[in-house]
Amino acid sequence: MTTTFPLSQRVQRVKLSPNAAASARAAALAAQGRDVIALTTGEPDFDTPEPIKQAAIAALARGETRYTPTPGTAALREAIQAKYARDNALDYPTRQIIVSNGGKQVIHNAFAATLDGGSEVIIPAPYWPSFPDMVLVNDGTPVIVPCDIGAGFKLTPAALEAAITPRTRWLVLNTPGNPSGAVYDAAELGALAAVLRRHPQVLVMLDELYEHIWFTPEAPAHWLHVAPDLKDRTLLVGGASKTYAMTGWRIGWGAGPAALVQAMVVIQSQASSGPNSVAQAAVTAALESPDQSFVAQARAAYARRAALVTEAINAVPGLTLLPPGGSFFAFVHCGPLIGCVRPDGRAIRSDADLTEWLLDAEGVAAVDGPSYGLSPYFRISTAASDAVLRDATARIARAVAALRPPQAAGARVREAEAAA
Ligand SMILES: Cc1ncc(COP(=O)(O)O)c(C=O)c1O
Repeated sequence: MTTTFPLSQRVQRVKLSPNAAASARAAALAAQGRDVIALTTGEPDFDTPEPIKQAAIAALARGETRYTPTPGTAALREAIQAKYARDNALDYPTRQIIVSNGGKQVIHNAFAATLDGGSEVIIPAPYWPSFPDMVLVNDGTPVIVPCDIGAGFKLTPAALEAAITPRTRWLVLNTPGNPSGAVYDAAELGALAAVLRRHPQVLVMLDELYEHIWFTPEAPAHWLHVAPDLKDRTLLVGGASKTYAMTGWRIGWGAGPAALVQAMVVIQSQASSGPNSVAQAAVTAALESPDQSFVAQARAAYARRAALVTEAINAVPGLTLLPPGGSFFAFVHCGPLIGCVRPDGRAIRSDADLTEWLLDAEGVAAVDGPSYGLSPYFRISTAASDAVLRDATARIARAVAALRPPQAAGARVREAEAAA
């Protein structure tokens, strides 16, 4: 960033979301007339269900256009309380619930309310890119723990134990995971809980934005059923964005210990106040509706697409995809392709080079592993129609087939590099 005036240290520590940046690159190419399939964004391809939209219109007609209470409307907090009782068999009084502008603001509030310079936050990689940047913007230090494909993209108890210090304030867990698709089972959660019991200073942020998007035979075990004794140091983060295809409405929520939630409300009161009145009415209707069939239908569609993409990607030599257990992303290992050479003589030296090649050769926009803290991988969103995903994976296969393997290409790379 070049400016004629000084910017804060704070803003210089962070960057724009890499997903948004990759989407912007794809959009720019499409605007130039290129045939681009953008699999970069993390949002459902479905529209918000009609009854939810109607609830928003009705709220407007009732004149619900004024400021709302800072922690969210009583109606929505009651609906969230009922949701936790119904879906998760968890009991949260409404004063332990905060509604914010998306799960993103819940997370930001929590870090703003708890971190000081030197505070550490453990973030398993691959991670949703905002986690480390939100720690940094709140003066904390992200402690990244790589969890590669061999570990199923999951944090092990040994890696957790090794990462904890007296300065650790939070462990961030995101299950089902973005970008990994990993879902922790009860035994894995139990093993992590056993470590945390030895370190009472560590809070747990459980990001459950993809709570309803799972493809495991049974609904995943809940952290607070495995470790109910850790409830008083766990913050649950949920939201309407992914479950009800409501990304643009910007409603998320947090449920946790009263003192933490009250501190988050103070932060929110000075940042944004209570969230949008109409969006809160719409989400109240979404949560209270006796007809939750949209959620099950969307889950079935995401499961079918995940299976389709897993099969197609694993048929491409050099690419490996662990069958995702949930969410709507595929985090593809591409290690064997590093060192291959493009037809124009340029070497693929990294996963970033590979995503550039996928875009150049076949117009498929993906996001490279470093954006999620782990290489060599790339992420594609599977929140697209089956036809688009078939086309996209066929294009990826063609782009990879056009690469020459390192040995065969070695001499020509050297020639091309000498000429460059
Ligand atoms: C893991 C994870 N957490 C939180 C969010 C934030 O979602 P929102 O702010 O739309 O509720 C996202 C969005 O992509 C996400 O992937």
